[in-house]
Amino acid sequence: MNFKDRVVVVTGSSRGIGASTVKLFAKKGAKVVINYVNSDERAESLANEIKNNYGVETLVVRADVSKEEDVKDLVCQIVARFGHIDILVNNAGIAIDTLLEDKTKENFLKTLEVNLVGTFLMSREVGSIMLNQKHGIIIQVSSTNGIDTEYPESIDYDASKAGVISLTRNLAKAYAPYVRVNAICPGWVNTDMNQFLDQEFTKNELDKILLHRFADPDEIAKAILFLASDEASYINGTILRVDGGCK
Ligand SMILES: NC(=O)c1ccc[n+]([C@@H]2O[C@H](COP(=O)([O-])OP(=O)(O)OC[C@H]3O[C@@H](n4cnc5c(N)ncnc54)[C@H](OP(=O)(O)O)[C@@H]3O)[C@@H](O)[C@H]2O)c1
Repeated sequence: MNFKDRVVVVTGSSRGIGASTVKLFAKKGAKVVINYVNSDERAESLANEIKNNYGVETLVVRADVSKEEDVKDLVCQIVARFGHIDILVNNAGIAIDTLLEDKTKENFLKTLEVNLVGTFLMSREVGSIMLNQKHGIIIQVSSTNGIDTEYPESIDYDASKAGVISLTRNLAKAYAPYVRVNAICPGWVNTDMNQFLDQEFTKNELDKILLHRFADPDEIAKAILFLASDEASYINGTILRVDGGCK
């Protein structure tokens, strides 16, 4: 797979799945946009690592994807720098797990705003550019939680990720035939998002996975890269589970 000189935007790419994804695209020759909301130092050091290792252009932009003005500014900066956008990966996401009875409206809305509204805002802004270009690829990072519902502690997160699946199908229709829109649904991945899981819970979850391990973020990045590649040229409006197989 060759992404030489393609402009790839990955939201939430200062760490975790997003950071692995920009590194992999850069390794294949793409110009990458690193986005984050808090981790200034991690984003800058990732950009330096990428420039040193792969010699490709990078652009680092702090933008909260849930804020319309931030999204417009992010997209303006990308177009000013590169002139076009080939691939968008909507990866930025948060999870605020609490007991169901402790869920607040504020936290529920915050989760929807980042995971679902942020994905919509980025897709709308970049989608119209891709439609004008008459080409583009959008990959939404949903979750198996958007399909399976197991824990009321993540009722808001699950709803946001189910919404992302619905967005994907809608946008694939709206942007056809110029822009392919697909979603990926990772299962458990070893990132900061899961750093506070307790041992017993982790063991129970491992017992449900056929491969009996959580994914490495690189394994999710590889699936994203595949969906963005010419090898996936006829895959559109699809939801791809990458979860090690469920028992
Ligand atoms: N880890 C899993 O098990 C798993 C499973 C299924 C799906 N996913 C999904 O995969 C995606 C990445 O997850 P991860 O595990 O890699 O998470 P992570 O390690 O917690 O990283 C989250 C990334 O999103 C960024 N971010 C958070 N809020 C943002 C906002 N409002 N605007 C822009 N960027 C924002 C963070 O930036 P800062 O560093 O600046 O905070 C960070 O770069 C998420 O959508 C998540 O829901 C994860």
